[in-house]
Amino acid sequence: MTPRIYTGEEIEKIRESALLVSDTLAEVAKMIAPGVKTIELDRMAEAFIRSKGGVPACKGYEGFPFTLCISVNEVVVHGFPSEKPLQEGDIISVDCVIEKDGYHGDSAYTFTVGKVEEPVLNLLTATKESLYKGIEQARAGNRTGDIGNAVQSHVEARGYGVVRELCGHGVGARMHEKPDVLNYGKKSSGTLLKKGMVIAVEPMITLGKRDIGIARNGWEVYTRDGKPAAHFEHSMAITEGAAEVLSDFERIENILKSK
Ligand code: MF3
Ligand code: CO
Repeated sequence: MTPRIYTGEEIEKIRESALLVSDTLAEVAKMIAPGVKTIELDRMAEAFIRSKGGVPACKGYEGFPFTLCISVNEVVVHGFPSEKPLQEGDIISVDCVIEKDGYHGDSAYTFTVGKVEEPVLNLLTATKESLYKGIEQARAGNRTGDIGNAVQSHVEARGYGVVRELCGHGVGARMHEKPDVLNYGKKSSGTLLKKGMVIAVEPMITLGKRDIGIARNGWEVYTRDGKPAAHFEHSMAITEGAAEVLSDFERIENILKSK
């Protein structure tokens, strides 16, 4: 399967879905506090998305039971929302995919709950930075390995681990399309990027070792050493110049600043 090339009109539809994801994550940001149950975030998100004419695309995807993937502390990705209240010092990665009018947007953000230890804050900073290092390489003529190499160099230089078992991907008509976008690798390797491709870049970075396990529910990915992991994700369209980032962290961070 060769990666799909999207028209400008289609990219606008993907942007609409991606911005609805950003608005959903901004609504989540408003609610995050010690004592809040993550299932409450999921319920709010589903109602919010449907009220805007979107469909929560994770719900029912290969049997995933929720609207949001909510991954707390040592859970890397694909966490299940639950009745367990958030606690001061937790970090919580929230990943959301929405389909609207036939096109998908995909984005994730890692939030802090109350006061979080300095080393964990540094992990969040480096993971978000690595996403933008990857995005700098996401342009026509480069290859997916240029993105992976940029992410990997940034975080490994700081002593963090890159989870190897999961990766970014093409996104648009379906949630997961070609190409795979690994978060590690060699420059000039992998799939050639072309104008009109739409991809999601999503570093999953560990404070400790990069080894992971899968929970008995078949979904939740956790760090073997029990140390926290962070996850940030943007959807973006490839152009001849800088990638057009279709999701928007500003909508989330404006809420965080006002809290
Ligand atoms: N949003 C995830 C990704 O970045 C996919 C969630 S997995 C699902 O690819 F099964 F829950 F949808
Ligand atoms: Co994704």
